[in-house]
Amino acid sequence: MSIFYFFFLNVRMSFEGNKDSFVHEQHIIEEQDRMNHISSTNEKEINEIVYALSNFKGVGQHQLSFVKGAAIRVLGKPDDNWWWGEIDGVKGYIPVNHLTYESLQQMYWEDTEYFGNYGNLKIHHEMLSDRPRTLAYQSAIKNNAQQLRGKRVIDVGSGTGILSLMCAKYGLPSQIYAVEASDIVEHTKTIVEKNNLGEIIQVVHGYAEELKLEERVDLIISEWMGTLLLFEMMIESVILTRDNLLKEKGTLWPSSANLFLVPCSAHAQYSQKMEFWDSQFGFDFSPLKPVAQQEFLHKPVHNHEMKPEDCLSSPVSVVFIDMKTVTVAELEHYMHHFSFQIQKDQVMHGFASWFQVTFDPLGHNNDVVILNTGPWHELTHWKQNLFLLDEPINIKEGEIISGSFELYRHEEWRRHLRVLLKFKKVPNEMKENWETGTET
Ligand SMILES: C[S@@+](CC[C@H](N)C(=O)[O-])C[C@H]1O[C@@H](n2cnc3c(N)ncnc32)[C@H](O)[C@@H]1O
Repeated sequence: MSIFYFFFLNVRMSFEGNKDSFVHEQHIIEEQDRMNHISSTNEKEINEIVYALSNFKGVGQHQLSFVKGAAIRVLGKPDDNWWWGEIDGVKGYIPVNHLTYESLQQMYWEDTEYFGNYGNLKIHHEMLSDRPRTLAYQSAIKNNAQQLRGKRVIDVGSGTGILSLMCAKYGLPSQIYAVEASDIVEHTKTIVEKNNLGEIIQVVHGYAEELKLEERVDLIISEWMGTLLLFEMMIESVILTRDNLLKEKGTLWPSSANLFLVPCSAHAQYSQKMEFWDSQFGFDFSPLKPVAQQEFLHKPVHNHEMKPEDCLSSPVSVVFIDMKTVTVAELEHYMHHFSFQIQKDQVMHGFASWFQVTFDPLGHNNDVVILNTGPWHELTHWKQNLFLLDEPINIKEGEIISGSFELYRHEEWRRHLRVLLKFKKVPNEMKENWETGTET
């Protein structure tokens, strides 16, 4: 449709003293008539906004061109393949297979799928069944019940409302805003009423970061942690809510978070994914090993259950987050250089990771509460994560595994992460040189 606009410019430029000006003007009028006719036939009182999934270059005069992410107003749906739309006042046909109802922002956050999942009971059943998780929040609330009295609280992503209910029951704050974006919220309202806590808990359906209050709050409580701590990136909503609505001296629960990493053995996992292909029903399946390597080893194994003895060294923290100060920009990339001293002769199959969060006390005499999802603690629904190596390596007590861990937030798919692990083994006989800085 930019062509139409271009014509218009042409005529204006050639209007003065040009012998062809009348012909040009006539052409424009005809063109406009044709457009008006097409518009009126196609416009059926539809007024929806859709978004472009990808760039589109319109052909001829009646197709609109647009770029990925453009917002397009749909004015009519003349057939299944082509709709009639408008961008910045210019109208034309738009191909339906290039359109989505989700904005680019929503699309890359996968909000429909994400909040669709949280709208179902299954995931809340899993979280409520995770006793170490839920009891850690309960301990923080109970330990600080006195200090919570009369305070104002926001529960970011309240789900079934469990954290708000606990706060209301044990802490008696003056007001709790239980904010939830998924449809589970309809049930949350019923649960709050059923427990006679409607006077304290106000259930709000919407995005926490869009909540508007006249007064700031004393506490933000939220269970935002995902696989590898940051997956789902719900933490961003907590940070934005903090910046909008938390008092300067207010508290966040959790207050800090660490992601840990350790070299580990994982024989059962490795053989299940790789040695499996050595032989199947008496046949040599080893040609599939490189495929299996690509398919199974290049993604972390979620839901890995490890034992403390699988750790080949002491774990180190590779990501630390102070919830009071972390910024959204910092979530883009974390990097940590590590140097693990191996504690036993073993086969190393990869690295394992898990996280820990802490809840700061509100009073001087109260204890810090810790929720640790590592192998020395009761298993949670997060379990542990495993990064398998292509080939296991033999390592000996005293050797060093040195390298770096990088966690990137995906540039487009904003809830997703990428991990880059680089390492090398420093054998005992080369350690002396390595320790004095002359790398081998
Ligand atoms: C991990 S669940 C925790 C639910 C509940 N707090 C609990 O502990 O059982 C996270 C919840 O936050 C909601 N959520 C995620 N991002 C949100 C946002 N920006 N605004 C409001 N709710 C959000 C999800 O729909 C989900 O119900």
